Amino acid sequence: MFTQIDHIGIAVEDLEASIASYTALGFCPSGTEEVAEQKVRVALFPCGESRVELLESTDPEGPIGKFIAKRGPGIHHVAFRVEDIDATLAALKTSGARLIDEEPRLGAGGMRIAFVHPAATGGLLMEVCEPA
Ligand code: CO
Repeated sequence: MFTQIDHIGIAVEDLEASIASYTALGFCPSGTEEVAEQKVRVALFPCGESRVELLESTDPEGPIGKFIAKRGPGIHHVAFRVEDIDATLAALKTSGARLIDEEPRLGAGGMRIAFVHPAATGGLLMEVCEPA
């Protein structure tokens, strides 16, 4: 069901400053994108088959805005790639896992994504994603 860690999502306060920091560390940005549905601006840095996903809130009431207000910047979620997100969500529902998203929604890069509640994962906000 899970094929690899697709990306690690990191909440940041200032996307441009964070892009500069990661670039200085030796990462190469592969572009930025606004995901209106999630009220974020996103920058991706490839790392082998995985990526670092920097997330800057565009709205204090959005999920990243609330996260930073409560906990400050840092790791927000880990995303696991799946081949069939509909089948994955159906299997997770059957297993009784608590889901934040019962149905997939649209993420960065046109991926179909859904979040699993940290109560189901020992405290990790888990994203499952199916590449476009
Ligand atoms: Co993500």
